[in-house]
Order: sequence, then structure tokens, then C-alpha cells
Amino acid sequence: MIEKPFYRPRRLRKNHILRDLVKETYLSKNDLIYPIFIAEKENIKEEINSMPEIYRQSIDYAMEEINNAKEKGIKSFLLFGIPNNKDDIASSAYDDEGVIQKSLRKIKKNIKDIVLITDVCNCEYTSHGHCGIIKNNDVDNDSTLDLLVKTSLSHARAGADIIAPSDMMDGRIFNIRKALNENGFENIPIMSYSAKFSSFFYGPFREAAQSNPSFGDRKTYQIDYRNSNEAVFESKLDIEEGADIIMVKPALSYCDIIYKIKQELKRPLAAYNVSGEYSMVKAASSKGWVDENKLVLEILYSIKRAGADMIITYHAYKIADYIE
Ligand code: PBG
Repeated sequence: MIEKPFYRPRRLRKNHILRDLVKETYLSKNDLIYPIFIAEKENIKEEINSMPEIYRQSIDYAMEEINNAKEKGIKSFLLFGIPNNKDDIASSAYDDEGVIQKSLRKIKKNIKDIVLITDVCNCEYTSHGHCGIIKNNDVDNDSTLDLLVKTSLSHARAGADIIAPSDMMDGRIFNIRKALNENGFENIPIMSYSAKFSSFFYGPFREAAQSNPSFGDRKTYQIDYRNSNEAVFESKLDIEEGADIIMVKPALSYCDIIYKIKQELKRPLAAYNVSGEYSMVKAASSKGWVDENKLVLEILYSIKRAGADMIITYHAYKIADYIE
């Protein structure tokens, strides 16, 4: 005869009301940040080949999308610029008439009650596709800092709500914080891409933003994916340098890092559910192999369960219809 179990965890799984009562993780539209690619070119809306339903679009179309997302309850957006002109010193990144600067002014004027976060990096603006000034075949840290500071100030002047540096140069948070403070922007938060790994999951983004490095890779500045203590150290440094929000990127294969950073540092933490993670889901769902919405919810909950407070995700627009 079998022994009757004494403990029965199934008691609390009996129906959805009970399951909802005991659930440990919450996901809401307030947690989601939707990335938008804004092209400087006029009158275009091109779907990105490897990212179905995500577009490279001119400002007017982008505003339409932001408005529609806002109606669905998405309130925070991460802006990426695709400039008409690139050169080896990323001049259009810090031009007050650059694509992001013009867009910020226009969106701020026309759409209220949203948060605009700007990605601060040079790779979309350099002809060689690297995140900074090239010296001796590598990105030179300290001369790149100067460009990042200029870009951050220029975004702040144009109306950015949060500055998000994604370049992984050493000392950038300190220098950006200092410059913002000295120029009357002491109340603009910094969301630092503090634990950004050198990842093949960024492939589709680089197609979208036309930012593939023309030689080499980003391994001399982004973190080696075999390391996790280093990711905690990088995030701790950024907090000490003045970051208000830290980040782990990518998210899905890096939930251990999210967990560890949250446990150790206990600061507001963003996770970036990146382009490759999006494309894998879209590819499988286009073949009918998975149920897209159910899979996306499971992924977003996993990232939150690991410890993220907010998630940057290309799924935000569509999944907003399925969460509160
Ligand atoms: C810019 C930047 C990248 C991403 C966000 N900001 C690309 C990179 O570092 O090559 C990737 C985002 C994604 O894959 O969705 N440095």
C-alpha cells in the first residue's frame, strides 16, 4: 500500500483564483520599456528583416507608434537614432540638430505623460560601427568619454527624461553625471548599461541600427559572457559613479546575473530582453512551433522572478494587450 502524502503542494494549485492568491511575481505594463528606432530619413517605415513587426521609421511614424503604445498603457520608451550621416568621430551623435535631438523636441511637444530614455552610444553614428574613437585598432577609452558627455548633454538639452549610456567605456558614468550636474541637469537620472555582455544576441539589432562593426568585435569593451563577478563589480562601480538605475543585458541567458546583482546591490535594476531573444521567439512562432503570447509572458515573468524591476523589450507593444 502506498503512504498518503502528508504535504500536498497541489492544494494551492487547484484553480486560478488560488494560484493568483499565492503568486510570487508580478508583471505590469508599468514595468515595460519599449525601444523605438528613429530614422533621420523622411517618410520611411521599413520593417526590420530579422525583427518582424519592429520598424526603422521616420519621426512622424515613430510618434504614431508611441501614441498607440501609450493608449495601450506603455509609458516608457527607449530611443535609438539612425542618422543620415556617419563619420569616424560620430559627429551626428552630439549634434543639437541630430536625429534624436530633433525627435526629443518634437515628441515632448506633442505627447505628454511619457518617459523618454535615450541610448547614448556612438556605434550607430560611426562609419566603422564601433562605440568610440579608434586608436591603434581599438576603441580608445578616454577620448571616447568626451563624445559620450557631449551626447548626453545634448540629449538633456533636447528634453530626454533619462540618459542611458550603452558603450561600456570605463569612467563614463562619473563623467556624464558630473557634466549633467554642472549644466543644471542634476535631476535627470542615469540608467547605466552596467552589465552589458559581448553577445551574439545583438545580431538583429545591428541590422536594425546598421551598427555592425566593420572590423573586429566588441570584446575589448563589453563583458566576457563567462564572467559573473565582473558583472557585479561593473554595476557596483556604476552605482558609485552615480548611476540611478543599473542594467543587465542580454536578459534571458543572463537571469543568474540579474539574480546576483539584485541580491548583492539592491538597487533599481533593468533587464534588456534583446533583439536576438525577440527574433528567436518570432521565428519559432511564425512556424507555428510555439504560442507566441504565452511564451512571451513566461519569458517576461522569468526575468522579473530573477530580480529585474523593469524590462526593456520589443514585445512590449503587442504583449500590452495581455497584461494589466
Ligand atoms: C549600442 C547598443 C546595442 C544594443 C543596445 N544598444 C548594440 C551593441 O552593443 O552592439 C543591443 C540591443 C539589442 O540587441 O536589442 N551599443
